[in-house]
Amino acid sequence: MSFENVINRKNTNSLKWDHTAERYGAQELWPMWVADMDFRAPEPVIEAMQDVLNHGVFGYHRRPESLREATTAWIAKRFDWMVENKQLVFTPGVVPAISHVIQTFTEKGDGIIIQPPVYYPFYSLIESNERKLLRNPLKETEQGFTVDLEDLEVQMQKGAKMLLLCSPHNPIGRVWSADELENIAMLCEKYNVLVVSDEIHADLVLQGKHIPFAKAAAKKDINVVTCMAPSKTFNLAALQLSYVIFEKEELQKAYEAHLQQQFVGIDSPFATAAAEAAYREGETWLEEMLDYVRGNVRYVKEFVDTNMNLLDVMEPEGTYLVWVDMRKLNMDASELESWLRKEAQVAFSDGHIFGKEGAGFVRINVACPRANVEEGLHRLQSAYDTLISSK
Ligand SMILES: Cc1ncc(COP(=O)(O)O)c(C=O)c1O
Repeated sequence: MSFENVINRKNTNSLKWDHTAERYGAQELWPMWVADMDFRAPEPVIEAMQDVLNHGVFGYHRRPESLREATTAWIAKRFDWMVENKQLVFTPGVVPAISHVIQTFTEKGDGIIIQPPVYYPFYSLIESNERKLLRNPLKETEQGFTVDLEDLEVQMQKGAKMLLLCSPHNPIGRVWSADELENIAMLCEKYNVLVVSDEIHADLVLQGKHIPFAKAAAKKDINVVTCMAPSKTFNLAALQLSYVIFEKEELQKAYEAHLQQQFVGIDSPFATAAAEAAYREGETWLEEMLDYVRGNVRYVKEFVDTNMNLLDVMEPEGTYLVWVDMRKLNMDASELESWLRKEAQVAFSDGHIFGKEGAGFVRINVACPRANVEEGLHRLQSAYDTLISSK
């Protein structure tokens, strides 16, 4: 498949292409924000959904056992992690899955640690469930961002019950190393903190290797819940299919009982057919897509380094999101926001929405044809040139 093809997504009720005005105040901004791709899904996925469509009867559906088999085979192949079919609990999206994990395993007022700047719905998950937000900001070093272990221990000493880990990390793009994960696991064991590892970006690794937290922590006596999905990997977010992997049967039983009480399940025939086809037949597409995205990241890095020397591109190890440091422009968060919208006419994700540590940064989604990346960067460069020449 050619990832160069520009597919018009306007007038398809696309969040990114039809609803930018809702968030950014103007529809004509060039959209490189919400984390989906402008690529067509793998052909076998489309064919599997087409078969469901052609049948034409959409009565009640049960998730087939073969979906579990395809999923655990994928996990074994990609991460060398042996998960049994029975360890999976299917959920309609990772965000709702995490909300249910919070409700099942913590009480109102319990402390939950996050590592900002981080995927912003983590804040609302904690706040809307009336839990206490404990912040363990990432530490900026010469080599980039890493976990601040000393502060993590301080947060745990405040009586944290849960750590919400983002692995790979959105928006920073870090793929955590074995050492980093083991150090986190050590503290979680010491302070008996349950880890919810959001690994929705696990398949999107550009450099290095993703290690599931549960695998890194296998020798530790801790409670780990892993959230994964084919949605980011194969651009199936609208189908709302994800799953949670449990290591301990008693935790899984409690979670399943909670989901049952809330009448939560995932049984859309389109979603199950798409997910199974993706895991069985989508790997070549994934590898080609990752290569294409690597090219886009390189393009962004080279273009920005050559043309906008006050901006710094942090090359992601994982995800298709590029975190760009614009702090040298010396604008506060609202000045930067308004400059990006009014002068550059682009809709990037503003760094501060991921937490105050993100102020002065933007997150650019490069899972799109190169022509779209070029358009966004040319708009940015033109505003940048005007800004610099006016100084
Ligand atoms: C870290 C992370 N978790 C969860 C999600 C969304 O998951 P879902 O659409 O399955 O609720 C995203 C989407 O960008 C994400 O980046």
